[in-house]
This record gives sequence, C-alpha cells and structure tokens, in this order.
Amino acid sequence: MRTWSDLDEFESFLDDGGMVEAGDDMPQVYRDEVFRFIEFHANSEMMGGLTERDWIPRAPGLRLKQIFLAKTQDEIGHAHLLYMVAADMGIKSRTEILEDLFDGRSRFHNVFHYQAVTWADQIAIAFLVDAAAFASQRAVFAECSYGPYKRVLKRIISEEGFHMRHGEEMLLRLSNGTDVQHEMFQAALDRWWWPSVQLFGPDSPPDDNLLRWKIKSERNEVLRHAYVQKYVPLLQGYGFVIPDPELREVDGQWLTGEIDWEPLKATMRNGGPDSARRIDTAARNWADTAWVRASLDAAIARRAA
Ligand SMILES: [Fe+2]
Ligand SMILES: [Fe+2]
Repeated sequence: MRTWSDLDEFESFLDDGGMVEAGDDMPQVYRDEVFRFIEFHANSEMMGGLTERDWIPRAPGLRLKQIFLAKTQDEIGHAHLLYMVAADMGIKSRTEILEDLFDGRSRFHNVFHYQAVTWADQIAIAFLVDAAAFASQRAVFAECSYGPYKRVLKRIISEEGFHMRHGEEMLLRLSNGTDVQHEMFQAALDRWWWPSVQLFGPDSPPDDNLLRWKIKSERNEVLRHAYVQKYVPLLQGYGFVIPDPELREVDGQWLTGEIDWEPLKATMRNGGPDSARRIDTAARNWADTAWVRASLDAAIARRAA
C-alpha cells in the first residue's frame, strides 16, 4: 500500500491528479476533514428528503404527488449512498453519524433549518435550493480527490439535474398563473432568496484545505457570484422582485447588497427558525422505525445461527 512520509508528499500526489480510495493510507487531517464534509452533505440530503416527504400529501394533484414521492426517494437515496461513503472512512459508524444528527450534535445545510410555509415555498426550494445544491455539488465533482465520493456524486448530480428542471417547470407554470399565485411565489422568494445565496457559505479562507486537497474545485464566493448572475435575470424575467434593495448591476455584473451572515451562523448552531422541529421530526422518525432495524438484525442473526 502507498504510504506518505508527510503531508507535502501527499499533497503533491493530489496535485498530480492522484485519487484516494477508502482503504488507502491518507493523512489523518485529510481523513477528518473529508469525512466532516461528506457527513455534512449526507445529513443535508437526509433532512432535505424529510422536507420533501412532508409535502407529498399536500402536493396538488396526482402528478405532483408522484413527482414529490420520487424526489423524496432520490434525496433519501443520496443520503444512503453518502452515509455509506462516510462510514467507510472509519471515523464513525453509520448509526453513530445518524445519532449525532438526531441528537443535534452535527450540522446540515442552512436551507433545511427554515420552514416551508406554502406550496410556493416548495417551488422556491426546487427552483432556488436544488439549483444552488446542484452548482455546489458539481463544483465538488469537477475535481474530487476522494474516489468513493466522486463516484456517488456522479449519480447524485444527475438526479439533482432532474430536480432543478422540475423546479424550472413549476416556476414557469406559476409565473403564467393567477395574480394570487404570483403573489404567493413572491412571498416565498422573499423567504428563500437569502438562504439560497447563503447556501454557498461565506468567502473561502485563503488557506482552505478542501480547495488545496481538491475536494472543492471553486471558492465559495465564485460559486455564489455565478449563481446570482444566473438567477437574478431569470427571476426578474418571470416578473418577480429580488428582495435586496441594494442589488445593482455594475459593468454587466449583478452585485448583491452586503450579506448578513448571522442567519447562516445560527443555522450552523442548529438555532435556525425551524431547526428544533426538523431535528425532532427526524429523531422521532428514527425512533419509530427502530422495530424495523431490530427485526432485520434478528432475522440476520437467526440465519447465521
Ligand atoms: Fe439530493
Ligand atoms: Fe434535490
């Protein structure tokens, strides 16, 4: 097995396009940080999937119910894949990762700490949040030195692409709808614009290890800027107002007003507006399904005996 005498040697291997696999030797700092990153992503898929699930009974019409059912399965499937990749890094078992999430000891994306108030919020989530997640995941996939993560990202991204297109279709229908529908989406946009922009995180630090180790391929502020360039004209084109009085166009570039990072920081402490309810719902879901895990374990034990 390839071993590393120091971090410099490992980093030059990564600079030459080297890929790391689960059983490979890797510096502990790389193992720890990549694990934390994948755990965060996995938890976000899990909490996102539970949000989608909440809306299956409320989705208007059979077609949309089917779509939300499929989307829920996609998101929970993404979480499953990522939890396997994370657990294989040998830091925490899958159960420990889940228990940390349900006990509020770990983190997940800021956007899943807010309440979806109306059906238009679900459209805003599909249009804005899935697109932001898609952009940030694609930027990880572009390089991604950790092989197992890169391989599951390929599938996740292809499914996220469908979610994004679905968001575009729903927004198009709504923007051609009644005045009430228009107002509903505007109200949802007022709630979801800033959380979506903040999903990319504050500016990357100059010494960001995840960039140096080719887990991320792009700085947070670059991705955020590209997102704003795409979504400001799109939303304005549909006749909506971006809730940012300082938004301006300078030399063909859209610049936002100063971003208040306090809401993001609060979500990272699990102190967002809907954090407690969401974590509690997820924890109860885990507790309510304990009998399924126990039955499966018992069946496996019986077969082995
Ligand atoms: Fe997903
Ligand atoms: Fe998605």
